[in-house]
Amino acid sequence: MGSPSALVQQLLAWRAQALQAAQAAGIPPQEVELLLRERLGWGSLERLLGRPPTLQGDPLAEVEELWRRRLTERIPLQYLLGRVEWAGLSLRVTPAVLIPRPETELLVEQASLWLQSNLLPPGSPFADLGTGSGAIAIALAQGHPQLQLLAVDVSPEALAVAAANVADYHLQERVKLLQGSWFAPLDPWRGRLRGLVSNPPYIPTGELAYLMPEVRLHEPRQALDGGEDGLVHLRLLIQKAPDYLAPNSFWAVEVMQGQAPWVAEQLQARGGYQQIQVHRDLAGIERVVSAHFVG
Ligand SMILES: C[S@@+](CC[C@H](N)C(=O)[O-])C[C@H]1O[C@@H](n2cnc3c(N)ncnc32)[C@H](O)[C@@H]1O
Repeated sequence: MGSPSALVQQLLAWRAQALQAAQAAGIPPQEVELLLRERLGWGSLERLLGRPPTLQGDPLAEVEELWRRRLTERIPLQYLLGRVEWAGLSLRVTPAVLIPRPETELLVEQASLWLQSNLLPPGSPFADLGTGSGAIAIALAQGHPQLQLLAVDVSPEALAVAAANVADYHLQERVKLLQGSWFAPLDPWRGRLRGLVSNPPYIPTGELAYLMPEVRLHEPRQALDGGEDGLVHLRLLIQKAPDYLAPNSFWAVEVMQGQAPWVAEQLQARGGYQQIQVHRDLAGIERVVSAHFVG
């Protein structure tokens, strides 16, 4: 490695070229900055102050290799870095779990609003179905100490990632990870859940082939595939939840564009659900449907 200023010149040249490559490949330029910051501790502030990265060896080699894989294999940067920042949390992610999306924060926000106006006793059971990385369960456990989170996933590999995240936040006592399909592991809590949230797979099978390569090639199909009409899992969450929810509890799911009116209708038809509401995300898309289950 040469002098610090030579290294900075080298990094600046690499950055300029990577930014061009990102633009050509339709990748957000912020990813170049994120990669440099995460791997070399070299963000815009350090650049402004003329500070070189402090790493030993050849700091550019790893960054170059990760960037090559990002461009040629279309692997999401979050998988390459093994982390994502989401809802104020820093979470581990691997290709066994869906990368938590910004719009999913809306589900946590709506649950939090309900919890603020419906005071629950300590240890109240609240389920996150299809927990993946554990993102939603961890965010709710952190924000609401009265909750006992039951985080269910069918994938043992996903639950291993969730377990590491739960441990990072020292929440092992309050987030219970359960392996199984939807309500199957929740029998001990039948009729007792004070809330249920889920971001289930909701993409119609036929549309999976048209997703961007980052999603199509690298995210778990099991996290995306909502069956022929995309509604297979949502249907089950609407129909079965009343067997597991206590009177006066919360129910909410994330949906894809166009599904919210159908979900609202089904809730109405099923009965027991009131205050059925559709919430739009920052892009204006109807993204979350919530309801108060009266029993
Ligand atoms: C869209 S991802 C959501 C992950 C995470 N909750 C989030 O919002 O980032 C859906 C999750 O549902 C899980 N899943 C799929 N089928 C399931 C089933 N039958 N029972 C339980 N979980 C299931 C997948 O493994 C995946 O982790």
